[in-house]
Amino acid sequence: MVAEAEKRPICSILFIIAMQKEALPIERELGLTEDTAWFFPKGVPWERYHGIYKDLVVNLVTPGKDPLLGVECVGTVPAALVTYASIQALKPDLIINAGTAGGFKAKGASIGDVYLVSDVAFHDRRIPIPVFDQYGVGSRPAISTQNLAKELNLKVGKLTTGDSLDMCPTDEATIFANSATVKDMEGASIAYVADLLKVPVIYLKAVTDIVDGTKPTTEEFLENLTSVTAALEKAVTGVVNFINGKCISDL
Ligand code: ADE
Repeated sequence: MVAEAEKRPICSILFIIAMQKEALPIERELGLTEDTAWFFPKGVPWERYHGIYKDLVVNLVTPGKDPLLGVECVGTVPAALVTYASIQALKPDLIINAGTAGGFKAKGASIGDVYLVSDVAFHDRRIPIPVFDQYGVGSRPAISTQNLAKELNLKVGKLTTGDSLDMCPTDEATIFANSATVKDMEGASIAYVADLLKVPVIYLKAVTDIVDGTKPTTEEFLENLTSVTAALEKAVTGVVNFINGKCISDL
């Protein structure tokens, strides 16, 4: 049975995006402008962009830059915090976590592919005590997005999340056990918060580097970042156009 909330048209969407380079093309395409007032608690580096796109109220939030080091606040902790604060303030009907990811060629991923995520899990939370082990992995299915995947011809795969860009052998074993196709640093933490607060999430992950390839991850990530964020923007625009006027149960 489809819940009532899933049958109401989606009015308000919230993008959670970790990096400025990932967010900028999307802000431009959707005509979003920065909110310069103190929307979040004073002193936090979090940034909010907003606007109206077609029939949708669109908000885009990034965790901004680390106040001490000046680099973007990637990773699970800032992502969880901005997700919590943004849901409380904006009460979105749907969250879209868009960003770049590593991809596994053994699972069919290539540079520039944009994946719609079917499931999320953590790969670096090891607690080898019964039940805590499952809590650590935190595996969750994403909402059903079969129509979206079909209409936009997007690849579908499982996402694995951890706080490191590289992959150590222990993480690799968990990633393999989770059958993941794409690897990021935020998705599963956003899923945790959104699940607590009962907000549906879709994840769009564009592949910048091949984790099981031959090139060093950092080099490949930086080399492909600009072109891949353009591919991500195109997919995001297609997704937003598809969502406009639809309900969660239509996705
Ligand atoms: N984002 C882009 N590439 C990544 C990788 N290899 N691991 C985690 N996050 C990523």
